[in-house]
Amino acid sequence: MSSPPPELLRRLADRLGPKGYSDDPADLDPWLTDWRGRYRGKAEALLSPATAEEVSDVVRLCAEAGVPLVPQGGNTSMVGGATPDSSGGALILSLRRMNVIRSLDREANLAVCEAGVVLETLHQAALAEGRRFPLSLAAKGSATIGGLVSTNAGGTQVLRFGTMRSLVQGVEAVLPDGSLFNGLSPLKKDNRGYNLTQLLIGAEGTLGIVTAASLKLVPAIGSRVVAWAGLASASDALRLLRHLEAAIGDVVESFELVPRTALDLVLRHVPGTRQPLSEPTPWNVLIEAVSPIAAESPEKPLYEALRSALEIGIIQDVAIASSEAQADDLWRLRETISEAERHHGPAAKHDISVTVEQMPAFMTSAAAEVEERFPGTQVIAFGHLGDGNVHFNVAAPPGAGPEWFEGEGGQVTMLVHDLVTAAGGSISAEHGIGQMKLGELTRLADPARIAAMQAIKQGLDPWNIMNPGKLVPPVDGAAGSLARGGLNP
Ligand code: MLT
Ligand code: ZN
Repeated sequence: MSSPPPELLRRLADRLGPKGYSDDPADLDPWLTDWRGRYRGKAEALLSPATAEEVSDVVRLCAEAGVPLVPQGGNTSMVGGATPDSSGGALILSLRRMNVIRSLDREANLAVCEAGVVLETLHQAALAEGRRFPLSLAAKGSATIGGLVSTNAGGTQVLRFGTMRSLVQGVEAVLPDGSLFNGLSPLKKDNRGYNLTQLLIGAEGTLGIVTAASLKLVPAIGSRVVAWAGLASASDALRLLRHLEAAIGDVVESFELVPRTALDLVLRHVPGTRQPLSEPTPWNVLIEAVSPIAAESPEKPLYEALRSALEIGIIQDVAIASSEAQADDLWRLRETISEAERHHGPAAKHDISVTVEQMPAFMTSAAAEVEERFPGTQVIAFGHLGDGNVHFNVAAPPGAGPEWFEGEGGQVTMLVHDLVTAAGGSISAEHGIGQMKLGELTRLADPARIAAMQAIKQGLDPWNIMNPGKLVPPVDGAAGSLARGGLNP
């Protein structure tokens, strides 16, 4: 990709003004690297429109010039999805200035948020109205609604409320030709053909720029109880989940698996954390049970269910938080695993899913195979067991540097993905494909899936200006040749 034409940059600067346009390298620098520091790209300008109309004009001008855009929210992608490539041909389109909660209707249980609203800001605004948006993840202080929609984010409450796909009622988006699609209307029934909202969710900015979303709310938490259970194996963790479901039903909102290896990393690298049980156990589960009614605390039923789990040997030990502060401390042990891993050294990250019932056996056999084939590596698999999704991370042998990713790390990834594909699972359960997994998606996905994705991409974005090089495998050579096609050749 060659540099954007100076005439285009001048027109964009005129349209967006000094608050919305910057080509100052110091302004651009933080947005050229992903959160994990795996990718570094180049871009000549950072575009920060404040309204959907400005986004629309930006996209139209860029489409006419055939210049690609890389949309960005909180820049917390785990797969390099928001980082431009190193050619310098693309411009960064930041949605962070579009950060207005346009409405929050407690009766209708609906919030309409612009793309740049930070998840935690929405949590607080909903709480002020006695409501909540039931999706949470470790990056909640910086992840934005547009990014969460575009990646179909998951997190730690999917067990009960599903991913963004189940929580988004509609979206407003600028399509690749600059037209504005307004799908925000919260109609319960609407059968006017293709569901464009669902098409844009999880599209990673390759089909358009999400500028706002209407989001479902639920009643605020009336009371919650958080517990930490110690177990002998991952299959005992699944037994515990089924035991709790049978005993107390869907009050269990979170069920997060933490191996001792991950807990040890947290205790070593995250200040202020401490061992939750008197003796460490090989596996742990963090459980949160919630009731919307303050007077109907799930504490007693959860306590009884855990006591019987202890009696029949499903769990080895358990601690129940007796205050909000203790509950937060337990959550911190789970939510800082990725941060602790960063301090530990290089690790090949795999965000995989198989069916919930398959997962314990899959984790055990895949870990044994990886560690045997690549001596010195250590599998640290943690996360959303109740969703059949774990972060199956493989730490490099001690002393390995970043070059490990290019050699053995890549072979480890291929092995993990081969195993998960053979088991009928997915190589991306919640983080998306981005640039990190594009090669692996191309290698492993069913040809029918790839052909359909390419056809949709070409139909909506024949100029290939929307986040090129992410998610959609290029049609042999066509991506490059279409990139400069322009709207009005
Ligand atoms: C998590 O579940 O903690 C996140 O998806 C982050 C990660 O995989 O590292
Ligand atoms: Zn996760």
